[in-house]
Amino acid sequence: MLVKSIKEMQGIVKKWKKEGHSVGFVPTMGALHEGHQSLIERAARENDRVVVSIFVNPTQFGPTEDFDAYPRDLEKDCSLCQGVGVHVVFSPDAKELYFPDQSTMVHVSGLTDVLCGSKRPGHFDGVCLVVSKFFNIIQPDKAYFGQKDAQQVTVIKRMVRDLNLDVEIVVCPIVRESDGLARSSRNVYLSPEERQAALVLSRSLEVAKNALNNGERNASVLKAALLSCIVQEPLAEIDYVEIVDSESLQVLKGKIANSILIPVAVFIGKTRLIDNIAYKI
Ligand code: PAF
Repeated sequence: MLVKSIKEMQGIVKKWKKEGHSVGFVPTMGALHEGHQSLIERAARENDRVVVSIFVNPTQFGPTEDFDAYPRDLEKDCSLCQGVGVHVVFSPDAKELYFPDQSTMVHVSGLTDVLCGSKRPGHFDGVCLVVSKFFNIIQPDKAYFGQKDAQQVTVIKRMVRDLNLDVEIVVCPIVRESDGLARSSRNVYLSPEERQAALVLSRSLEVAKNALNNGERNASVLKAALLSCIVQEPLAEIDYVEIVDSESLQVLKGKIANSILIPVAVFIGKTRLIDNIAYKI
């Protein structure tokens, strides 16, 4: 069932709650792929009712980013949702969701100053604003996010903690194509040659993982190994490569001792792709 009105969505949720149903929520920007599908399937397993939002959120795109070009196919997305246990696809128009004189910001400081936050100013403010609006409208018991957007997960968890929001954040593993490329709605932008070049992201992370498995514990050495792998790909332009603490997202330079995250962001042609691995020492 496709719902576009906030009032109608709130009415449905009220009824579900009255009937004692638990609600799982999967926020998306559409162009659904197997990564989203894994989130939806988990939500369907763990909740009585499942809502998937499909909304290309203008407030999280910078002025030079791909908001207009972002792939949109609501009909196809709705039919994918039908087969996997989704009760409502919530897809409001931007005019329905945002007031013209919208004055409230949701800013998570610190965690958003690094990595994608430093490269995409305002991005996480837009994400936090739309996600908190959806949480208020849908009142989910659990909300499902992909580990591919590792910084987004960390920021959302902090927002939920700081604002005492009554929702459990469930993080699901990255879904990859058979050759290792992380599933992303932006993969459709890649030409066949770029698609091949894009494998450098997962390949570089494999290099880092092997080094860690072989006992390497120096963050600078790991970063150098990642960089030297990526620069061998002529179509790749590095946006950032870091070794960070997985909780604080602070960049590590010397010996690593705890849980780390290795996030990479690389332009392949004009397409900016991200990937990461988490590693426990
Ligand atoms: O991860 C995404 O697709 C978006 O950032 C989200 C969480 C749906 C908010 O627009």
